[in-house]
Amino acid sequence: NAKEEEIAYTVRAQKGETEIFDGTKTKTLGYNGAFLGPVLHLSKGDTVKIKLINELDEDTTFHWHGLEVPGDADGGPHASLKPGEENMVEFKVTQEASTLWFHPHPEGSTSEQVYNGLAGLIYIEDDNSKSLGLPNEYGQNDIPLIFQDKTFDDKYQLNYDAAMNEDGTIGETLLINGTLNPMLSVKKEKVRLRLLNGSNARNFTFKLNTGDSFEQIATDGGFLNEPVTLKEITLTPSERAEIIIDFSKLDTDDDLALINDEDGSILLPFQVSEQGGEDSNIPEKMNDFTITEEEMNLPVTKNVEFFGMMDKVTINGKKFDKDRIDFTQEQGVTEVWEFYNKPDDMGGMIHPVHIHGTQFKILSRNGEEPSENEQGWKDSFSLEPDETVKVAVQFKNKGVYMLHCHILEHEDNGMMSQVKVE
Ligand code: C2O
Ligand code: CU
Ligand code: CU
Repeated sequence: NAKEEEIAYTVRAQKGETEIFDGTKTKTLGYNGAFLGPVLHLSKGDTVKIKLINELDEDTTFHWHGLEVPGDADGGPHASLKPGEENMVEFKVTQEASTLWFHPHPEGSTSEQVYNGLAGLIYIEDDNSKSLGLPNEYGQNDIPLIFQDKTFDDKYQLNYDAAMNEDGTIGETLLINGTLNPMLSVKKEKVRLRLLNGSNARNFTFKLNTGDSFEQIATDGGFLNEPVTLKEITLTPSERAEIIIDFSKLDTDDDLALINDEDGSILLPFQVSEQGGEDSNIPEKMNDFTITEEEMNLPVTKNVEFFGMMDKVTINGKKFDKDRIDFTQEQGVTEVWEFYNKPDDMGGMIHPVHIHGTQFKILSRNGEEPSENEQGWKDSFSLEPDETVKVAVQFKNKGVYMLHCHILEHEDNGMMSQVKVE
């Protein structure tokens, strides 16, 4: 990278009030604001210093989901700050262009803090992302969309306890970027949507109501080699996808909307103006992600079994213990981990698996090649009941990292292990 810069940010976790419903204030949490958070813009090669300030009434941590940073900068449950405390983290950005996010990770209350509003985005750019010619006008044709479901009480307050279902909070009100019933105005051009499933427990299957296709260009941790044409995409909690919808090609007499194919509900209606935009490009080749023969032939050295529902969730039969290291791995060495979701007598459920501090490669699902849009860097993936997924994992840095289910209530209920990288 040509320029290596030093970037300084201050991120405060704070309490606030937000007018989600007209004329009423809802108590919320946010980073550098009342609700949700800013986009932290980073470039590959940057040295980043972030001052962390906890202005909440409770302990919190600042976790960079998807960032390949040393364990002591990762913001897991060990990095807890008490109310009023500050800390400073420093790291170098060594990974490629991607859309990541950040959220709290205090032991036992991650789910409630995220639910109440603590979540922000991280954009990494690099020489490749700047030269591809993709839509990149923030808020115009390059739009972040954080999908979260909430339950409000009769006073329009976020009610975590009321939202609690058996396996996590499933709310009946959808917020996108913290907004109720949003509508997105776009021009007749290619529009890039950076989708984040920021829900605690709900899966979304995004689809256009007209059944038209779109292109997926990026996974959790970077660009796909080529755009992948899809009619729908499912994201489990914490997964991201960048997609491009070409509104110049769609029949705008239809009322266009993104819907959730799981229940047919409208997620986001589009208002398409008559105006055409400047046409951006979707290049044929965007990245050079590869899975080598060597990686394919590595033996499995870690077996990880996800099991259970509600508060009976375990990984390899155990619940989280802050003082126990469950796995060790050598820095810079690639190992193949085999994940299995063991069904119970109820059949079991999907667990979204996430590992901190690494972008990994999905090698196979039940012995088969993963779908084209999973052949890219991932930090989270869905693990279906009775499914076996092989993943090639390498850590660039040292430290202690979490491995957990990203149904945040499962994580808080102990579906989390620790990996020590030496
Ligand atoms: Cu999204 Cu343990 O993280
Ligand atoms: Cu994470
Ligand atoms: Cu789970």
